[in-house]
Amino acid sequence: MVKSLRRVKIAGLSTYVPPKVLTNADLETLVDTTNEWILQRTGIKERHIVGPGVATSDLAKEAACGAIRQAGITAADLGFIAVGTTTPDTIFPSTACLLQHKLAASHAWGFDVGAACSGFVYAFTTAMQMVATGSTDHALAVGADVMSSIIDYTDRATCVLFGDGAGAVVLAAADDTEPAVIDFAHEIDGSGGPALCMPAGGSRMPASHETVDKRLHYVKQDGATVFKFAVRKTEEICRRILERNHFDPSQVDLFVSHQANRRIITAAADRLGLPESKVIINLEMYGNTTAATIPLALADAIRQGRLKKGDLVLLASVGAGFTVGAVLLRWSL
Ligand code: UT7
Repeated sequence: MVKSLRRVKIAGLSTYVPPKVLTNADLETLVDTTNEWILQRTGIKERHIVGPGVATSDLAKEAACGAIRQAGITAADLGFIAVGTTTPDTIFPSTACLLQHKLAASHAWGFDVGAACSGFVYAFTTAMQMVATGSTDHALAVGADVMSSIIDYTDRATCVLFGDGAGAVVLAAADDTEPAVIDFAHEIDGSGGPALCMPAGGSRMPASHETVDKRLHYVKQDGATVFKFAVRKTEEICRRILERNHFDPSQVDLFVSHQANRRIITAAADRLGLPESKVIINLEMYGNTTAATIPLALADAIRQGRLKKGDLVLLASVGAGFTVGAVLLRWSL
């Protein structure tokens, strides 16, 4: 039985992107698009793409090993693994199981979290609960996606947006004086399902010659609908989590939004009254890596010297489903 909840901190963070780069110039040779259109409408310059045979658990393993090392533990110390992904290696077994085996995390149980672009934030919150309740001292939360495996490189409306990558954090118990996670706020709205989905390959429409011929195993998106929902909900969820913890947006030191489109991030930040100096945008280098964008942005913020211990950090995501998420924390690394 749970008696009292423990405070939880990030003890390690690491990310990984595959070496191969797909530039806007490369895409100009594949579809009817231009570097100018992509830059102006999305802010993306290039994205990283896996080579043949490389899957989500491979990227996840690279990120996880770094996070485990930074936390000063071994994989055997992990009691739980949550992997946020939309592109599992296989429908089953779960990528969490494959990752557990690759890491030799002999004492961990876990599962995949299907929350699309909110995958990292939802995996983080799930793993955090395992530590908060005392069920384990160390939990791994991963956001990893090989979006190139479900992108139609003949569809200019989607193929310019996405890239591959992974990020992982180790969560551990914090003592009373250490910076820690403060709160999370999530919601889902299934009415948005058709706006962003992969129609075939599940139980509704199993794979067949027809589904392949009709290119139904790829991402389909009504971009404008997702765009408007993302701007509105990012602001709404951020205001809610700040207000209920008695913070004003001006007290946020770093706003780390899901990286789907530069215009979504700046519109949400403007509505919250956050200046550019408090917003991290790194999608020009990676595109939208779905569950990996937030850890990739955190890692870049650290590299740029924009995160210091104790900073108030606000994570926010909107993704297919729709899924909406926010996490408020004091930076602990
Ligand atoms: O991660 C969470 C999920 N995803 C998102 O958050 C993405 C949300 N949506 C978006 O980022 C934007 O809606 C897009 C970047 C996808 C599209 O930008 P937009 O400003 O909403 O453009 P649009 O879809 O309204 O299209 C404008 C025009 C269209 O031409 P017409 O119909 O006006 O003649 C498109 O066919 O731009 C055309 N277009 C392109 N042109 C050149 C669409 N994609 C391209 C392209 N290159 N790659």
